Amino acid sequence: MNPNAADDLARLSGPVLSFRENHSAERLLCALQELWRAPDLQSIARIAARAARELTGADGASFVLRDGELCHYVQEDAISSLWQGRRFPMSSCLSGWVMQHRSPAVVDDIALDPRIPSEVYRPTFVRSMAMVPVHARAPLGAIGCYWGSARVATAHEVALLQALADGTAVAMENIVLRECVEKAQARMSELDAATRDLAERCGALADSQRQNDALNELLAHDLRSPAAGILLTARVRLRDQDLPERERRRWSRVLCSAELIQRTAMNLLDTSSRRLGTLVPRLEEIDLTALLEEVAEILEPFAASRGQRIELRPGAPRSCRLRADGGLLRRVLQNLVDNALRHGPALGAVYVEARRLDAPWVEVVVRDEGPGIPVHLRDHIFDRYARLDGQDAGLSSVGRGLGLTFCKLAVEAHGGRIEVRDNEGGGSCFCVLLPA
Ligand SMILES: Nc1ncnc2c1ncn2[C@@H]1O[C@H](COP(=O)(O)OP(=O)(O)OP(=O)(O)O)[C@@H](O)[C@H]1O
Ligand SMILES: [Mg+2]
Repeated sequence: MNPNAADDLARLSGPVLSFRENHSAERLLCALQELWRAPDLQSIARIAARAARELTGADGASFVLRDGELCHYVQEDAISSLWQGRRFPMSSCLSGWVMQHRSPAVVDDIALDPRIPSEVYRPTFVRSMAMVPVHARAPLGAIGCYWGSARVATAHEVALLQALADGTAVAMENIVLRECVEKAQARMSELDAATRDLAERCGALADSQRQNDALNELLAHDLRSPAAGILLTARVRLRDQDLPERERRRWSRVLCSAELIQRTAMNLLDTSSRRLGTLVPRLEEIDLTALLEEVAEILEPFAASRGQRIELRPGAPRSCRLRADGGLLRRVLQNLVDNALRHGPALGAVYVEARRLDAPWVEVVVRDEGPGIPVHLRDHIFDRYARLDGQDAGLSSVGRGLGLTFCKLAVEAHGGRIEVRDNEGGGSCFCVLLPA
């Protein structure tokens, strides 16, 4: 250890010093109050340098800031100029030494102390000095006092200087904290503004959603009756055994289109957000196998137009009965088989199977030979208006993305569930589970 440092410590390791002179205590208190109110680092430097000089009666004082590995002489208050604005390496000046050792230094004659770079001090009035570290969690800087004559700074003077330096460290930390608080407040205001903006947008979105729903419902009401009229006419015409083949094909196309219009209108109505949760099934005893045959018959003309076939798979019990809303269940199956036909290849097949599972469940499975539903999109396709990307070609592009939303609502209103399963042969596999 530097012999001078040992001397410094020896001089300071006495009992805690009491303030003998009242006015130094008062001056220190004033300086501390000023420091803690200081708005910025520059003010702190000015207050600390002036107070250090006044407290010790020195001929000059300086406030030094640590700048990486350099000591920056930021501010001085002295009888003649010293080193204000200059930077020195920490290893070659006394302010660096006190910062590194976290300890005050007292130099009674600068010519004899090896820590002093004499060439820097020679042009100045300084002959003796005391320096204390400004230290918080890390060294922040130092405060030095200088005299024009060789003298030993008293323990009392060093204690006053160190108290001033400790108060300065608190003031510097306050500035950092204040900056953090100001930044946080600015960020909070930004967040508040963003939240208000978001709320406004949500409100506007909800308004437009309500308008959209109202329009959809109006459209659905307006479409339903004419579609029902066309369906009736087409069915009557198709019952005519003597209808020429060409006419039959035309009326079949009319039937398909009217059926699609009617189903879309009903889906629009039942999936409107004003009606969510209001779907109440009217339960009756129904024959599921007969219902499947009915669905196959309704969609048969559409399948035939693409050379497809709908196969009601053997294995289904000839009579599978359950309590359900026949109208809702028919529309669920129509939507699923319609999807299967649209996404399946021309000339392919769609398989529909109903099974009674362990009581009390009944399962209806609709399988196709199309591209299938990627695993990560299997939940998403039940969302309103959901359409899978890259499927915008041909027949698949006419949908509105409401069919499966309706299916889910209707099945869940029965206390059942609908899910997409892996189809071993490729293609999609939609499964409806209903309480029997
Ligand atoms: N069997 C299927 N094979 C492949 N993709 C399917 C199948 N069924 C549904 N999808 C995908 O899920 C999306 C949503 O189906 P959904 O039935 O809800 O709407 P849509 O058929 O597009 O329109 P619509 O409201 O007329 O039914 C479809 O657009 C399609 O991308
Ligand atoms: Mg559909």
